[in-house]
Amino acid sequence: MNSMSQITNTNKDVASTDKIKKLAVAEAFPFNPFDPEFHTDPYPTYNCLRSCEPIHRFKSFTGGNEWLLTRFADVKAVLNDSRFVVDDLPKRLKDKSFYLKQEGDFNTLTQTISKWLFFLDPPEHTRLRGVLSKAFAANTLESMRPQIQKIVDGLLGKVQEAGSMDVIADLACPLPAIVTASILGVPTEQHSELTQWAHDLFYVFDQPISLKDYEYLNKVALEFREYFSSLIAEREKKPLEDLLSYLIAAKSQGGKLSEDEILASCAMLFSVGQQTTENLIGNGVLALLHHPQQMQKLKAQPTIISSAIEELLRYDSPVQLISRLAIEDVEIGGETIRAGERIVVCLGAANRDPAQFPDPDRLSLTRQHYSLPFGSGIHYCLGAMQARILGQIAINTIVQRWDLKLNTNKLEWRKNASLRGLKALPVTFNA
Ligand code: HEM
Repeated sequence: MNSMSQITNTNKDVASTDKIKKLAVAEAFPFNPFDPEFHTDPYPTYNCLRSCEPIHRFKSFTGGNEWLLTRFADVKAVLNDSRFVVDDLPKRLKDKSFYLKQEGDFNTLTQTISKWLFFLDPPEHTRLRGVLSKAFAANTLESMRPQIQKIVDGLLGKVQEAGSMDVIADLACPLPAIVTASILGVPTEQHSELTQWAHDLFYVFDQPISLKDYEYLNKVALEFREYFSSLIAEREKKPLEDLLSYLIAAKSQGGKLSEDEILASCAMLFSVGQQTTENLIGNGVLALLHHPQQMQKLKAQPTIISSAIEELLRYDSPVQLISRLAIEDVEIGGETIRAGERIVVCLGAANRDPAQFPDPDRLSLTRQHYSLPFGSGIHYCLGAMQARILGQIAINTIVQRWDLKLNTNKLEWRKNASLRGLKALPVTFNA
């Protein structure tokens, strides 16, 4: 054998060993974000994929090729690369709806989510985000701290006597709903219905869901729109100092916003701010319960709360997966992502990447770092500041107020594919 064929054979051997290794990885750690076992602890799968196959090709439930990215640098690069655009979910939904024409359609759902920032590209995205972001300015939200503290104190006061609570149902769930409602100007008595709709509507990000589920979500979108239509009519007659009145004013001042966009944005803000913030509080308190020394550290030094929240967001990220579409062929880490292919970026895995965070599986509330719980690039979370403030006040208050103990040995995770959050978090405390 001459030396050239020896090299060729060696390259072939390496390539086939590589292939076998990848197949073994895929088999040992299947990426299935719908599997309850995966939900319990996705981190071993992420770690394995990141080290063995960081650009992981998998078959989606429709049979198409998709890619999963788990390295911090790749995730950040994709989110800041204009060759990757937002998912075409509204269009896909519209296509699906076509098959339903006899019985109904998803038109209201499609009409609503197609105006959500998540699914818009510039210049439409830039215009709508410009109007909405004024309402989420740091100083406006900072000035709400006393009001948010009062809401948290009120919620904890309700369970004080009992000496036990479900952190999700009694604190994490009502808090974002009350705060978003008060920013938008929704009357208090309507909170619980809106919270349920907000919860349900977020499932639109999850796939696969059945046609029946989409029909249900279409109904939810309709209810949201009917509710906000009548509130808009009220505010048009009598404006108040709330976000809804501000959006109505933007509509009449040079048509910066249409009524359709206002309705869609109200549903979006309620829906995306709900489960995400719930998960920050739930996952955050759970991480502290599993790390009693860190819990004690926060108790002793409440001023570390800002870095503590950043670390809790990194350690068990409330949003785990987001997706993009390639609009041209792009090479990443030696693999070619073809135009039209969908790419799933895993924030949960990126935020545990040892190349970015030394000893990433260790929780350290004073760690100084930069992670990606809120995404990156032009779609960076609009509500990041609101979520941070709510998380800081909720978690610091509960930790300073009581000594918490986990009151179950069976935790159940919600079945969303893109989010990571508990159904319930029962605790006891010394009242
Ligand atoms: C801990 C809580 C939260 C987390 C972890 C979170 C996470 C994220 C992430 C990862 C994205 C980027 C999506 C993408 O690039 O495809 C995003 C976008 C967004 N988030 Fe949040 N979010 C949270 C809370 C909130 C809240 C409270 C609101 C509003 C009330 C909100 C509103 C939005 C909006 C409107 C976008 C779309 C921005 C755009 O496309 O320009 N989020 N969020």
